[in-house]
Amino acid sequence: MGYNNYSIGVLDSGVGGLTVVKEIQRQLPKENIVYFGDSLNMPYGNKDVGEIISLTKKIISFIDTQNVKVILIACNTISSQIENLIPLTDTPIFDIIYPGCLAAIENQSEDGIGLIATEATVKANIYGKTLKSLKSEIPLYSQGSHDLARIIEKNNTNKEQLELAIKEAIDSLLVKAPIKNLLLGCTHYPIVQSEIKKLYPQLKLIDPAVKLVEIVKSYLEKHQILSNTRAQLKIYTSGEMDSFLPFIDVLGIKNYTLIKQVL
Ligand code: DGL
Repeated sequence: MGYNNYSIGVLDSGVGGLTVVKEIQRQLPKENIVYFGDSLNMPYGNKDVGEIISLTKKIISFIDTQNVKVILIACNTISSQIENLIPLTDTPIFDIIYPGCLAAIENQSEDGIGLIATEATVKANIYGKTLKSLKSEIPLYSQGSHDLARIIEKNNTNKEQLELAIKEAIDSLLVKAPIKNLLLGCTHYPIVQSEIKKLYPQLKLIDPAVKLVEIVKSYLEKHQILSNTRAQLKIYTSGEMDSFLPFIDVLGIKNYTLIKQVL
């Protein structure tokens, strides 16, 4: 297989990164994709840094066996440790925080910007640091959620529990500042964006996946390594395949093969 037709590797702690896969299929429909979601060990957002890095090491080693030309860290929690991950692979690696910050700057208003994310992402203060490195003065109001990603991944039909977790996160932010723009700083959250929109119609929701895929697209164009095949998508999960299927369905992800893979 020619290098152009190598895959885009995508990883997340669970189903969240499928929101990035969906965006790849929209912007780069000819690209092959290999996805790994570590649902067995999810949530990562409540783990300490050492554990997040050691679990991610295994995923990167696995993805590197799959003929990939780039790796996308489709998880904010894992991306918050990007500096520790770059040395683990020779494959070009893209995190989701930097594009999230670019999207925040593009959407800034004088009220600043709100961020909801996992506790680990908020604790790492990676959005604050990255915005600063981009010389942005935009005030950032962050709120971590202990449960929201896990509740989404569990996909149970208890809507009240989901609404409560959404409200806990966003109400705490609105007490801090009357923000109008909200960064969805966890790839699981765009899965429930219509529920968030229903509760907070005044908020503009920003999904960093759009900017991430734009950046990757320019990179592939610049290096002349865009694919020219009929795209295939392999989805590996360390969890139960039956739990993954409803998300693939709801996000309208196409042409996939689902495989169970414990690392
Ligand atoms: N999807 C991950 C993120 O973007 C977090 C989910 C988890 O806690 O494992 O941060």
